[in-house]
Amino acid sequence: MKSTTQFKAMKMKYEKITMVTAYDYPSAKVAEQAGIDMILVGDSLGMVVLGYDSTIPVTVDDMIHHGKAARRGAPDTFLVVDMPFGVCHLSTDQALRYAIEMMQKTGAEAVKIEGAGTMIPLIERLTAAGIPVVAHLGLTPQSAAVLGGFKVQGKTSSEALKILEDAKKTEQAGAFMLVVECIPHQLAKQLSEALTIPTIGIGAGKDVDGQVLVFHDLIGYGTHHIPKFVKQYATVFPTMQQALATYVDEVKSLTFPSEAHQFVMKEQETIALYG
Ligand code: KIV
Ligand code: NA
Repeated sequence: MKSTTQFKAMKMKYEKITMVTAYDYPSAKVAEQAGIDMILVGDSLGMVVLGYDSTIPVTVDDMIHHGKAARRGAPDTFLVVDMPFGVCHLSTDQALRYAIEMMQKTGAEAVKIEGAGTMIPLIERLTAAGIPVVAHLGLTPQSAAVLGGFKVQGKTSSEALKILEDAKKTEQAGAFMLVVECIPHQLAKQLSEALTIPTIGIGAGKDVDGQVLVFHDLIGYGTHHIPKFVKQYATVFPTMQQALATYVDEVKSLTFPSEAHQFVMKEQETIALYG
């Protein structure tokens, strides 16, 4: 398993960092076996796994439940768990308590926090407590309602400078990594050069230190909207649907189970059965 210092070293060596979300045992396992550098148990699970239309309803217990499963699937991969909506806006003490609970119960290596501003003292506090923090700027889905929806952030120079300033603040506060979501590639490049901590982009172009995608978007698992910045490396949903439909047909038509899928008792043993 890589460490936070190894991720910083990767940035220095221009070696890209790969990250993908995972929310359960098999998804984490396939990610680990594919050689991913880090796994994010993102609160995107609210949308792609739990069927909510935002990340707002996701709770600490949801994160723990899915984080534990992902940990079991990927015992040897650096695991980051999202701090869900609301929790970070409580007192720093309460937020710290939730972060500790999530770390202890899931066995994750780090937590991720959306935003700068009032989050800066929290990033400082968690880091001081020994909890590695990944910051997250640009499009921060937990505040999509305030941002006016799921839109590209930092398109004007003033907005871009604000994000750049915020990014520096998260680094100064002790974040060891920064996720930047849905920002122009020029800003992402500028930001990555200005920081010593690695930047992980999603919808931020290639001039960042690593990439992250949502598992279900990447493999085409689901019927949800796929953002423009996603590259789908597979479309498993139609394959799954086809398999299930064939199963239904075969059961109805008595094609399944066949002899190959049944158990047999010896002929003489059946005598008593048949009488
Ligand atoms: O929850 C999530 O999946 C995320 C990534 C999009 C970075 O926060
Ligand atoms: Na998230």
